[in-house]
Amino acid sequence: MDVRNRPIGFFDSGVGGISVLKEAIRILPKEDFIYYGDSKNAPYGDKSVDEIRQLSFNVAQFLVEKNIKALVVACNTATSAAIKDLRKKYSNIPVIGIEPALKPAVEIKGMGKILIMATPVTLSEKKFNNLLKKYNGKSDIIPVPCPGLAELIEAGILSGNKLQNYLEDKLSSYIQNEIAAIVLGCTHYPFIKDEISKLIPNVPIIDGSIGTVKQLKRKLITLNLLNVSGEKGKVQMINSSESKEIMELSNKLLKLSYN
Ligand code: DGL
Repeated sequence: MDVRNRPIGFFDSGVGGISVLKEAIRILPKEDFIYYGDSKNAPYGDKSVDEIRQLSFNVAQFLVEKNIKALVVACNTATSAAIKDLRKKYSNIPVIGIEPALKPAVEIKGMGKILIMATPVTLSEKKFNNLLKKYNGKSDIIPVPCPGLAELIEAGILSGNKLQNYLEDKLSSYIQNEIAAIVLGCTHYPFIKDEISKLIPNVPIIDGSIGTVKQLKRKLITLNLLNVSGEKGKVQMINSSESKEIMELSNKLLKLSYN
């Protein structure tokens, strides 16, 4: 098979990376994608870095054996813990990661603080702290660790009291302040954007999916790897969990529209 017509592999700890996959399907409609959600082992965000690295390697190996031409780590937590090692091990294909979209949030130049919601691991890892150092002088950036939030979304809870209570608990102390932007530093969170807006209205909510997919596209162009079959791309969804609900949720999220 022409290497250019091979699929692109995506993975996340669960259903979150589907928010990045949706952007990829929009921007690269002729590509084939294989999405692997590791819901059996979700969440990654409260595991040790070594464990996350091991899980990421297992999934990456599975996808590489499916003959992918590029790998997208559609998980901020796995990117923080494992991207360097993944790039080293799979140096024959492009490996693209995702990180909290601080740059676009700072560039909005809005008045007030920038809140950054992510898993505890993402916010404590060196990668994010380097990013924070880079932009902290330019804006007042507040990390908001959200343990347990990805789990609610994995359980299909995308609205309702339980979610609103969680968000109020995490965000209510900032409501009095002026907020310039909210950055979603976990790929699960775009699916609850509307619920965050209900609590903190009229504030731009930014996620890293567009930046990641643009980087993927740039890499494919530079390496002459864009699909040349001329056909509309296909998407294959795989999950490590045997639960029927997870596949149903994955398909629902793939179709879900949000702003
Ligand atoms: N979706 C993952 C991320 O982007 C995290 C979810 C988890 O904790 O597993 O960070």
